[in-house]
Amino acid sequence: MTSIVLFCRPGFEKECGAEVQEKAAWNEIYGYLELKKNQGIVLFHLHESEHGEVLMNKVPLKRLIFARQWFVTVTDIIDLPDYNRVEAITEALGNEWQYTDLRMEMTDTNDGKELSKFCRKLSVPLRQALRKNKVLTEKSKATEQVDDDGAILHALFFSGQQVILGFSLTRNSSPHIMGIPRLKFPSLAPSRSTLKLDEAFLYFIPREEWDTRLTSGMNAVDLGSAPGGWTYQLVRRGMMVTAIDNGPMAESLMETGQVKHKMMDGFKYLPQKQNVYWLVCDMIEKPQRVAKLMSEWLLHGYCKEAMFNLKLPMKGRYQQVSEDLQAIKDAFNKHNVKYELYAKHLYYDREEVTVHARLLSPAPLIAVDL
Ligand SMILES: C[S@@+](CC[C@H](N)C(=O)[O-])C[C@H]1O[C@@H](n2cnc3c(N)ncnc32)[C@H](O)[C@@H]1O
Repeated sequence: MTSIVLFCRPGFEKECGAEVQEKAAWNEIYGYLELKKNQGIVLFHLHESEHGEVLMNKVPLKRLIFARQWFVTVTDIIDLPDYNRVEAITEALGNEWQYTDLRMEMTDTNDGKELSKFCRKLSVPLRQALRKNKVLTEKSKATEQVDDDGAILHALFFSGQQVILGFSLTRNSSPHIMGIPRLKFPSLAPSRSTLKLDEAFLYFIPREEWDTRLTSGMNAVDLGSAPGGWTYQLVRRGMMVTAIDNGPMAESLMETGQVKHKMMDGFKYLPQKQNVYWLVCDMIEKPQRVAKLMSEWLLHGYCKEAMFNLKLPMKGRYQQVSEDLQAIKDAFNKHNVKYELYAKHLYYDREEVTVHARLLSPAPLIAVDL
């Protein structure tokens, strides 16, 4: 049987499953779900085997909110012997297909963490054997270029005795193992939230565009900024930041001279000049209110790009976030603007998703009545 294996935050398997099933059905691809509860793994068993690759080609991973990574299976779960595991895996794989990389993966749980040492050890002889069989091709050392047309081999270990193998397409999968970027907490940042915005920039803004979209000298507004973890990320990139929060900002940030702190309601603040590039918002507020505020800022032309969080409710999380995003799309469509809108449940997010929005056509000149 062919299945799609998806990785998500443990506890969000239901949302991740519902979403992939819905997006697959839009492409007339059907199957049933098996959720590995609290292990952050969803298996979507397909009725038609050939639909695995079709789905990978038709649905961008970027369009799935709750899935961090995915692959199509090429084997069922394999029971591994205590010895000769490498042989068991290479045999199950055969040598019909070639892959440009191997990812040894596990669940994002404590059990998974314990397995990581075992996987690291096994990966050395496994890579060697796969290269010998010409299943794993050498990366071009001259360029270290990622082969965009290639496929990545995934080995997901549920334990030292059980593994499932599959592949993802390089151009439509996460570049990180299990879809998790390991970011270093900057010791000078005033809160752990800082990693959320760091990950968001890394995920949503292509690195080759950082020079024009994330660069020194830009003006930014941070709504709900205290104590300053997000402001820190803007300051560190050389931006001038207006920080809006009734709470205090870290002294170290104020001393940079790049931050203006205004103690006021983020829903009432409006920029004086139209020179703000980034609007970021981490206010703990009703997601409907935040969604409306963000679309207003963009449609008025108060900012060029917005990065913000939408808090998730306890129940009906996928439905709620879909409705919030739809409200933003409706506002944009009402004014006939072209836009880019992506949402992701990032690794450093918890009960919220991160959204990136920007208009691709000029903001309408008319006064906007939402
Ligand atoms: C999760 S914290 C922000 C953390 C911040 N992004 C950081 O990295 O340090 C949420 C902040 O939103 C602020 N907040 C909530 N509602 C607000 C409002 N209506 N206007 C301004 N700030 C608000 C709170 O005071 C709180 O400091």
